[in-house]
Amino acid sequence: MRLCHMLGRAGYIFIFLAMVLSILASRSSKFCWFQAILVLSGMAWLYALRMKDKWKRIFELEGKVVVLTGASSGLGEALAHRLYAAGCRLILLSRRVDQLERVKQEVMMAHRRATVYPPVVLELDLAQTQSAQQAARAALAVFGHVDILISNAGISYRGEASETTPSVDAQLMQVNYLGQLAVLKTLLPSMLERRAGHLLCVSSVQGRIAIPYRSAYAASKHALQAFCDSLRAEVADRGVLVTVVSPSYIRTELSRNAVTATGDAYNKLDATTASGMSTDEAADRVLDALLHHRPETLISPLKDRLAVLLRHLVPSVFFWLMERRARAGTGRPGR
Ligand SMILES: NC(=O)c1ccc[n+]([C@@H]2O[C@H](COP(=O)([O-])OP(=O)(O)OC[C@H]3O[C@@H](n4cnc5c(N)ncnc54)[C@H](OP(=O)(O)O)[C@@H]3O)[C@@H](O)[C@H]2O)c1
Repeated sequence: MRLCHMLGRAGYIFIFLAMVLSILASRSSKFCWFQAILVLSGMAWLYALRMKDKWKRIFELEGKVVVLTGASSGLGEALAHRLYAAGCRLILLSRRVDQLERVKQEVMMAHRRATVYPPVVLELDLAQTQSAQQAARAALAVFGHVDILISNAGISYRGEASETTPSVDAQLMQVNYLGQLAVLKTLLPSMLERRAGHLLCVSSVQGRIAIPYRSAYAASKHALQAFCDSLRAEVADRGVLVTVVSPSYIRTELSRNAVTATGDAYNKLDATTASGMSTDEAADRVLDALLHHRPETLISPLKDRLAVLLRHLVPSVFFWLMERRARAGTGRPGR
């Protein structure tokens, strides 16, 4: 697929350059209509290239049943807008049903379309495995099948590993890992039966590298990444796709909603989160990964990509850098 894309892109550039050269070569003669049409069609081609993803989104996602968790704020809310605009039949889930209703009303107001499927709102608490399974069953029953699951809900954490209570470690694993699996595994059998479906999990760059004072969060996201990597291979020839997206900081309420080592609300907007990418940019990148069936995508600045590389190629240097970071207290709560 990627090779086709690259060849297609190279073809467009070649055609465009050929047109420009043909005009330059005939500068002395009169400018003819034929060349003008060639230039215009070349420009239209380039414009189409830019719009390709938008149209791909509209054609590929139209009518698809999408279960979107964590749709009540942040990245999930931005995704709800894009998916609704693309004509998806959306099922929005999280704990705060009033916020989901707000998102539902706002997406319907913002994107008035000829074909409208009003989003369906369902309550989901990932902290309770059984109720998460129930919510997933209810989501499956709405249209009788699910085409795409976007497992986006999650919580973060700030604290020192040595001071973190076991119940906080368990809470992070439950919400960011076990709860996600409860939803995913409830939907998976029907996807396997239909030999069609796409599971996209929103992890984090901290699912690829662990940084100080984020132990419980990084552990839960590493677990999610590992599970998805195993699952992807198992279902590859059974019609089901698995994508993991790993963003760096996004400007959302995630740090405010984070829990501390003792389970209290952190309730602060960290500078790193405040200076992160916009939810719109992150949502576009998530959709790009979905539409291009990418197994995984890092949605990160170069610095974070290099850190991931370093972790795998020269781990000792990465560990030394993290020790320095911990000693300096970077990312420690209360600093
Ligand atoms: N923001 C970042 O810097 C960043 C970076 C990398 C990865 N991510 C990941 O991106 C995803 C979205 O986070 P965000 O940044 O958009 O933060 P957010 O605005 O705090 O959104 C988190 C969402 O998860 C839902 N949620 C939390 N606990 C839940 C539970 N127990 N059961 C069901 N839903 C629950 C929340 O809804 P309710 O409160 O209504 O339940 C909310 O809709 C998360 O998986 C996060 O780890 C974020």
